[in-house]
Amino acid sequence: MSDVRPFYLSGVPTTGTETLEVTSPWDGSVVGVVSVPTDEQVEQAVADLDSVRFEAQSLPAHARAAALDHISARLKERSEEIAALITAENGKPLVWSRGEVTRAVSTFRWAAEEARRFSGDLQRLDTDATATGRLGIVRRFPRGPVLGIAPFNFPLNLVAHKVAPAIAVGAPILVKPAPATPLTALVLGEIIAETDLPARMVSVLPVANEKMAALVADPRLPVISFTGSGPVGWAIQQQAPRKHVTLELGGNAAVVVNSDWPDLSAAAARVALFSNYQAGQSCISVQRVLVHTDIYDSFVAELVAAVDKLPTGDPTAEGVQVGPVINEGAAERIVGWVDQARAAGATVLTGGTREGRTVAPTVVADVPAGTQLAQEEVFGPVLSVARFTDLDDAFAQVNASRYGLQAGIFTTDVRVAFRAHRDLEVGGVIVGDVPSYRADQMPYGGWKDSGVGREGLHSAMNDLTEERVLVLTGLDL
Ligand code: SIN
Repeated sequence: MSDVRPFYLSGVPTTGTETLEVTSPWDGSVVGVVSVPTDEQVEQAVADLDSVRFEAQSLPAHARAAALDHISARLKERSEEIAALITAENGKPLVWSRGEVTRAVSTFRWAAEEARRFSGDLQRLDTDATATGRLGIVRRFPRGPVLGIAPFNFPLNLVAHKVAPAIAVGAPILVKPAPATPLTALVLGEIIAETDLPARMVSVLPVANEKMAALVADPRLPVISFTGSGPVGWAIQQQAPRKHVTLELGGNAAVVVNSDWPDLSAAAARVALFSNYQAGQSCISVQRVLVHTDIYDSFVAELVAAVDKLPTGDPTAEGVQVGPVINEGAAERIVGWVDQARAAGATVLTGGTREGRTVAPTVVADVPAGTQLAQEEVFGPVLSVARFTDLDDAFAQVNASRYGLQAGIFTTDVRVAFRAHRDLEVGGVIVGDVPSYRADQMPYGGWKDSGVGREGLHSAMNDLTEERVLVLTGLDL
């Protein structure tokens, strides 16, 4: 049995009375045991966040930035160890775990930069004769302590997207990692505890899901930043209507392959890889590819060949691209959806099977509209292909989804790119690549059922804060 890992209560490694076993999605072995906080310890953390809020928001920019730079540097130093931990608890292949650590290094670095320039605006008020000599200064201040609830699919970087903007604006935060993947978040807690931030400002607590209702309702946590499933996210918003709630809830991202795209093999390779990276467990993995009818047959042939070549298997082995999904239940559901689509008339071009928790990379054509595969977020390595005749048709198909996180379009025509930007009901349009592209500083979030609010350092900092105007009078402007 592994040693029990403490959680971080107000920056202090602490243990409770119960533990949680963390198992490998690949082979089911125990990869860590985590201590779970008692109700009293959770209460202590919330009381501490509440009591430190004014001290935290008064921290000078250089202090916040120095802490963020420290975290970034330490993640970089420990990157190989942390990547191995992500792979152990989440099952994503090492290549993707390393990529995630690199991104988290950049997320904290960007937060440090944004903390240094988060200044506010000047507004002239002497635009009326009655206001001669008046000037407004608009600055943003934290709405209050944040409850950050993170998902399992990016155990480090999606925790980073809760913590880094909170530190950057001086907002205390309680982070609750996903029950399947708390180990990496606890390493982050350990690194945060090395900084000179007030210790009470950050707690990383693997609180059980069943205990979350009390935290969601707690008025001392006026901001909730949630990434995870739609039903849970919308329920949180309903339970806390007076709080500032941001929700990042996923999608069934589409990519359009237009007939003007010159290199079909390259596009097929990108689509194949990014419908299967992390076994499809990314909110922006490609779930739907819409191909112009003139190039459909040749593109789909290239695509299936590229999917079949993806190295699949043990996520700890170098070179593997596709590993297991998070648990047996997820694998069963994913294959069940493929079977349902097949029974309804879809054609499975490759895959559609599983060995335990590993689902074979799958491509399905002609998926009937009413099936779960067509309507829901599959969160697995399954790609649906369909054809379109013109751009109106393509954009209508992209928008015929209750989700709207990101979309991609392979085109070299700048007019088509701008049209896509205007007409696609999503939070981001990627031109010349898959919708799975995300730079951590860019605004990231969804339309429709994909959520509300935006991540990305600057956007999240705005979300965690509220404007407050200062009016100066009697000035000689
Ligand atoms: C997500 O699954 O929403 C995050 C995707 C990413 O950060 O690349």
